[in-house]
Amino acid sequence: MSSASAKKPHLNLVVIGHVDHGKSTLMGRFLYEIRAIDERIIKEYEEEAKKIGKESFKYAWVLDRLKEERERGLTIDLGFYKFETQKYFFTLIDAPGHRDFVKNMVTGASQADCALLVVSAKEGEYEAGMSPGGQTREHAFLAKTMGVDQIMVAINKMDTVNYSQQRYEEVKSGIARLLRMVGYNINKVQFVPTSAWEGVNIIKVDKSKTPWYNGPSLLEAFDMFEEPPRPIDKPLRIPIQDVYSIRGVGTVPVGRVETGVLRVGDTVVFMPPNVKGEVKSIETHHTRIEQAIPGDNIGFNVKGVEKTQLRRGDVAGHPTSPPTVAEEFVGRIFVLYHPTAIAAGYTPVLHVHTATVPVKFVAIEKKIDPRTGAAVEENPPFIKQGDAAIVRFKPLKTVVIEKYSELPQLGRFAIRDSGRTIAAGVVIDVVPAKV
Ligand code: GTP
Ligand code: MG
Repeated sequence: MSSASAKKPHLNLVVIGHVDHGKSTLMGRFLYEIRAIDERIIKEYEEEAKKIGKESFKYAWVLDRLKEERERGLTIDLGFYKFETQKYFFTLIDAPGHRDFVKNMVTGASQADCALLVVSAKEGEYEAGMSPGGQTREHAFLAKTMGVDQIMVAINKMDTVNYSQQRYEEVKSGIARLLRMVGYNINKVQFVPTSAWEGVNIIKVDKSKTPWYNGPSLLEAFDMFEEPPRPIDKPLRIPIQDVYSIRGVGTVPVGRVETGVLRVGDTVVFMPPNVKGEVKSIETHHTRIEQAIPGDNIGFNVKGVEKTQLRRGDVAGHPTSPPTVAEEFVGRIFVLYHPTAIAAGYTPVLHVHTATVPVKFVAIEKKIDPRTGAAVEENPPFIKQGDAAIVRFKPLKTVVIEKYSELPQLGRFAIRDSGRTIAAGVVIDVVPAKV
């Protein structure tokens, strides 16, 4: 076992939701309340934030560390923080809500086991997030698509609605409907009413504010996540997030082990470049380990591979069962958004695990009923927003894609165009390329 997962199981938690709904503030406040952040630091942030008229962002600054993020009062890139609960060791991934940075959110979701969806109860804010172009809706779809199988919901800014039970129920039922449509088992989803600003229901439920609420606090709900399966008996797959060249060490790709086991001494092959190297060492959270298992975020030193030969989106595996490079693939998709209609020939961008490549809609084979999967039309000339379909795709650059039924984490994808998510889907078949 790796050291990080030896004591308590490790969970990667991504925090998602519409811009300004309070993700960073809620998690900053949470870290402060569990004493992972010192009071002194918060005081410091408060003074600094006051100077630029952003006092209300003092808790968010725990996670928003870039100068631009602090000046603009929003999250741009992923913010990472570690904390422990009774049951788990968490890596918190704070994602940006702004539409312009959905790409970063997708990267965060691709690394996560579970998600906290933060939804503001404030008048107008909940509604904005749920509008057709809203990120409450978009993030929920993307989280599921990127393989985040467990989700919980904080209904935040309850102070702005006087902790109204009626408003809470209204927001809760709307979000429950959305999550059910996206494919989550709603019976397993915890909803918690919170105020990040007043620090309500974060560690303990505050009966003076929400006497009508009988569920867990945010902290208690985190421990209600289930330990995800660790598919150690499947072929090794590590989608690469970044590659470093460290002086005195050599080439160090970084990524999360999705399936299989990586051991020091293994020969690994990176696809699509098809380069091989020997694993000299493995690290997780700055600790050396002898082997890495699914869920571990690792950096591993490989001998025989140059940094310039690798890039984000490549996938490491063992040469006995190398990652599949797709010539074409067939996907079952759901169209989340499109201003007009999609026909064969359309060439947007494919996001799959950590890869981003242009992709062509080669043929729309069937329109299907999104709930049952039954065909409703063969070879339709086009598909529109709200449609589900079976589509044959051709990636215009080499990319690793696997069947969802075999390797789910590498078989889910999103289709994006001009900064919007057009569709989300799963891979039902792959035509391998000759490599
Ligand atoms: P992005 O990362 O940019 O998507 O935003 P975010 O969801 O992280 O929101 P952030 O934490 O930056 O908070 C946005 C604003 O909402 C800040 O001014 C916060 O002080 C405020 N806010 C957050 N939570 C609460 C809350 O519970 N009550 C009130 N009244 N305001 C809140
Ligand atoms: Mg934020």
